[in-house]
Amino acid sequence: MKKILLGALLIGMNMIFIQESKAQLYLDAKQPVEKRVKDLMKRMTLEEKVAQMSQFVGLEHMKKAEKEMTVEEMKKSHATGFYPDLHSSEVEEMTKKGMIGSFLHVVTYEEANYLQSLALQSRLKIPVLIGIDAIHGNGLYHGATIYPTPIGQASTFDESLVEKASRETAIEMRAAGMHWTFTPNVEVARDARWGRVGETFGEDPYLVGKMGAATVRGFQTKDFTGCDKVIACAKHFIAGSQPINGINGAPADVSDRTIWEVFMPPFKDCLDAGAFTFMMAHNELNGVPCHGSKHLMTDVLRKQWKFNGFVVSDWMDVERMHDYHRIVPTVNEAYQLSVAAGLDMHMHGPGFAESIVAAVKAKKLSAKRIDQAVAKILEAKFKLGLFENPYINEDKVAEKIFTPEHQQTALEMARKSIVLLKNDNQLLPLDKSKKQKIFVTGPNADNQTILGDWALRQPEANTTTIIQGLRKVAPEAEFEFYPFNWNLRKMKPEQVEEAKKQAERCDLAIVVVGENSMRYYWNDKTCGENSDRYDISLYGLQQELVEALHATGIPVVVVLVNGRPLSTEWIADNIPAVIEAWEPGSLGGRAVAEIIFGDVNPEGKLPITIPRHAGQIQTYYNYKFTSKWFKYATGKSTPLYEFGYGLSYTTFDISPIRLSATEMKLNERIKASVEVTNTGDVAGSEVVQLYVRDLYSSVVRPVKELKAYQKVYLKPGEKKTMTFEITEKELMFYNINMQYVAEPGDFQLMIGNSSGDKDLQKVVFKLL
Ligand code: BGC
Repeated sequence: MKKILLGALLIGMNMIFIQESKAQLYLDAKQPVEKRVKDLMKRMTLEEKVAQMSQFVGLEHMKKAEKEMTVEEMKKSHATGFYPDLHSSEVEEMTKKGMIGSFLHVVTYEEANYLQSLALQSRLKIPVLIGIDAIHGNGLYHGATIYPTPIGQASTFDESLVEKASRETAIEMRAAGMHWTFTPNVEVARDARWGRVGETFGEDPYLVGKMGAATVRGFQTKDFTGCDKVIACAKHFIAGSQPINGINGAPADVSDRTIWEVFMPPFKDCLDAGAFTFMMAHNELNGVPCHGSKHLMTDVLRKQWKFNGFVVSDWMDVERMHDYHRIVPTVNEAYQLSVAAGLDMHMHGPGFAESIVAAVKAKKLSAKRIDQAVAKILEAKFKLGLFENPYINEDKVAEKIFTPEHQQTALEMARKSIVLLKNDNQLLPLDKSKKQKIFVTGPNADNQTILGDWALRQPEANTTTIIQGLRKVAPEAEFEFYPFNWNLRKMKPEQVEEAKKQAERCDLAIVVVGENSMRYYWNDKTCGENSDRYDISLYGLQQELVEALHATGIPVVVVLVNGRPLSTEWIADNIPAVIEAWEPGSLGGRAVAEIIFGDVNPEGKLPITIPRHAGQIQTYYNYKFTSKWFKYATGKSTPLYEFGYGLSYTTFDISPIRLSATEMKLNERIKASVEVTNTGDVAGSEVVQLYVRDLYSSVVRPVKELKAYQKVYLKPGEKKTMTFEITEKELMFYNINMQYVAEPGDFQLMIGNSSGDKDLQKVVFKLL
């Protein structure tokens, strides 16, 4: 009997031992991630699995909204919110029980650590994944380095700099306990009325793809394994950047051909760079909400492109399939439809998990689909090292954020992103030593709109506004400053009069106008998320201000700070010097000043066409010939400034193109060379751009498409040969049967320093 008891005891102990060692497998960092995921998933209940697919807003975000908003306001609110039937204290309890897998809008490291401490009290001790919109620096975090917004980043035509800034942002994010950035936004911007243009890399699929891929590489460093990397998110899939009337989230009625030629390529580039997550778009595409599209999430992403990460929804968009799009009569059906179509994580709120659990139990949704989603979310958590290092060291945060090195990158990027649009009679650069009184004014001269959208208010000490930059860069110069309120809606005619009066006493005026993207002034801003416009001229009394200053007779320099192209035709016609600064980030004011005073030679190039009027939208450089067949009866049909355009304080000459051969077979390559010479007096950088046109093809093709670019730095008088290789890849397109091919025939090659015909050298070659 004793023996039997002992035997049973030993077996029991053995079982405990086996169970314990099993329990430790997923917690054992030495095990391969795949095994850890499998082991953990074996232990999870259906409820625990679906919890991993649920993301909630952070507790502090909820608490603030709970205090400040009514239920009615919350329902209408887009960027902030809470859950009407769920108090933040209940969300804490849910986290302790392992019922929430991820959070967003957690903006302090204290909260990040606190949430992890709650999650680690759960049965399986699975840490939470914290996501945030770190679009150009971790801007929702107080004290982060803010880099120029993506439209400015694209203006640099410098992928390595974009990669560097993203890498630094990843370091700042991890230092503050955040693991997942909802960027890059690789939508191809085709409508300047849309408020989110500044968040994109502009209008060209090739450039957007290059910049998007560089961003992904910077954040993830390919594989994001480790404690100083974050996962990236290619968004919004797809076509929301061509919304009806420019309204965010409006339907996208876009042909399949345009989808594949224009909107898909940058997403594929991000995927090839390793983007581990994709976010679906608010909009419906040709009648199918993206959040319910099996075609997009499963057929294209997973099957065709072999995407191996996970898909997240955007803010309340699954729910909108029920109450806005009305393709399902209940929210529960919306949840089921979306997950069945391929959605892996639901952003923002309760309701989802219960509904999905019930659907699986009722066999309306397969358990396999849930496992597929959860495995990828857990893979991310393991690779990011969250099981081993759920907490961040609070003492070390400060030394990783807004470091001198990161500030330097932000400054460098701002310098390279600023585009000089006009400089008649070389009004710029200004001479620091010249005795003159410089009048500075305008609503954007002294505020944080230079930080762009997706930034909360940053410490004043970290931000160099434009007037501060001018004073710093030219301490000897005499400035007279007339401040305007940041709120463009509140400009008063008396202020314009006063500015004019003061300008009359000065020798030159710098006026800083544009848009306002400050999201903490949600109802007053004019640009950024959900701030779309039917007009893209200067808002408020800004045009009157510029005209009043011009009327004084003194030379005027206009500096534009804006996140979307602005139709500034009068300014282009009347003002001698115009600078497009976009939203240049923390040190943007200094960069603008350095350009104004010539410490830095501008080199930014427009990543988007600037229209003359809203009525000219859509206008983009890669149009089809008949778009310009007839001209407008009452005004010019040309855009104000073309894609790829930007001046320098020097001039460059580009020689005619030399080809290594005038004919090529498929699988062969041709080399096209030009000689670039700096013909001016100062050193500078030029972006040499290569465009291709298929002269005759089975379907109508654009008049030109960017296929390559190279940046070159030249001293005065210096010359360099720039060589581009043309392969089959540069000539391919979707033919009449939607097959991606290169068709034999003649192609025109164009090389120059903008997409404008007058700036391009041209030559024809044949594909045999
Ligand atoms: C935006 C997304 C963003 C999300 C979370 C949504 O309103 O469309 O781009 O990632 O909010 O902040």
